[in-house]
Amino acid sequence: MIKPQAVKIVEVGPRDGLQNEPKFVSMEDKITLIEKLIQAGLSVIEVGSFVSPKWVPQMADSGAVLRAVQPLADLSFPMLVPNLKGLEAAKAAGAKEIAIFAAASESFSQKNINCSIAESFDRFAPVVAEAQKEGLKIRGYVSCVLGCPYEGQIAPKAVLEVSHRLMALGCYEISLGDTIGVGTAGQVQDLIRLCAAELPIDALAVHFHDSYGQALANILAALDCGVSVVDSAVAGLGGCPYAAGASGNVATEDVAYILQGLGVETGVDFEALLEAGWFISDKLGRSPMSKCSQAFLARRGAS
Ligand code: HMG
Ligand code: MG
Repeated sequence: MIKPQAVKIVEVGPRDGLQNEPKFVSMEDKITLIEKLIQAGLSVIEVGSFVSPKWVPQMADSGAVLRAVQPLADLSFPMLVPNLKGLEAAKAAGAKEIAIFAAASESFSQKNINCSIAESFDRFAPVVAEAQKEGLKIRGYVSCVLGCPYEGQIAPKAVLEVSHRLMALGCYEISLGDTIGVGTAGQVQDLIRLCAAELPIDALAVHFHDSYGQALANILAALDCGVSVVDSAVAGLGGCPYAAGASGNVATEDVAYILQGLGVETGVDFEALLEAGWFISDKLGRSPMSKCSQAFLARRGAS
């Protein structure tokens, strides 16, 4: 298979991982988790979101979390922003990077951000203009790229169109999200090839949830098409409040392990990453979803 020399892992655990947790994770624990992720060598960590606290209560303290972690390291800490109100909060907290999020499915767009895809771009345009004026970097997400919880199959062309629009607005990278984790490797390759024919491959990231256990296979399929940016969440945390049945993101530990095995650089200290996953899993009162992490724990228990 074709594989890149290095992969940039975008750690989304503190945001995508925690946003759906019913039990409130304290600000101190969120900060400690991010400190541990920094110690593990992750260079891009999505810290939180500036969305409505009525919609996603877990992210209500994202500003304070960002203020606490940003001075710790000169890294990228993208913050999810849906509208101008979110951008104002991001700016007030000192954000240097934001992520805007659109969907390839009309129904998901409505459920997730309460507007159509077209309306979402009307909202994003002034957000991006203002963010650019302030010198912020802007990442873009497309949700439901391989399936929608409300509409089922999604046409790859719809994904391409939304990706084009995000790039045209000024996003430096587009994260293609299999929000409900239904896609398989062949579909991933078809989609990436379609997108890469018109968009720079370096600007495409993959974001897999692991509901059907396909995430690692899908990542390899994407790497084989030239992708070199992978989103993941420590301990396999995650789920989307507006995608019933969607399980966690692919676990960062498992991504780091498979890439290490392939000889692909990630900059990640695997043992430190395991520690980060154990820390947050302990706080949530459950075992990490990462298979590697479970195997290490079992081996440690046996020795
Ligand atoms: P809305 O109700 O349509 O907004 O929500 P509105 O403009 O009508 O305002 C209603 C109220 O919300 C007002 O307050 C606003 O001030 C407030 P009230 O007057 O009623 O007290 N409000 C806000 N408060 C704080 N921050 C804001 C903000 N905006 C409005 N930014 C909105 C629209 C987008 C805000 C809402 O739908 C929302 O917050 N949705 C949550 C979206 C979300 O976080 N979803 C999960 C992340 S997406 C995801 O996980 C997928 C991804 O991981 C990729 C993948 O897996 O595929 C990215
Ligand atoms: Mg997600």
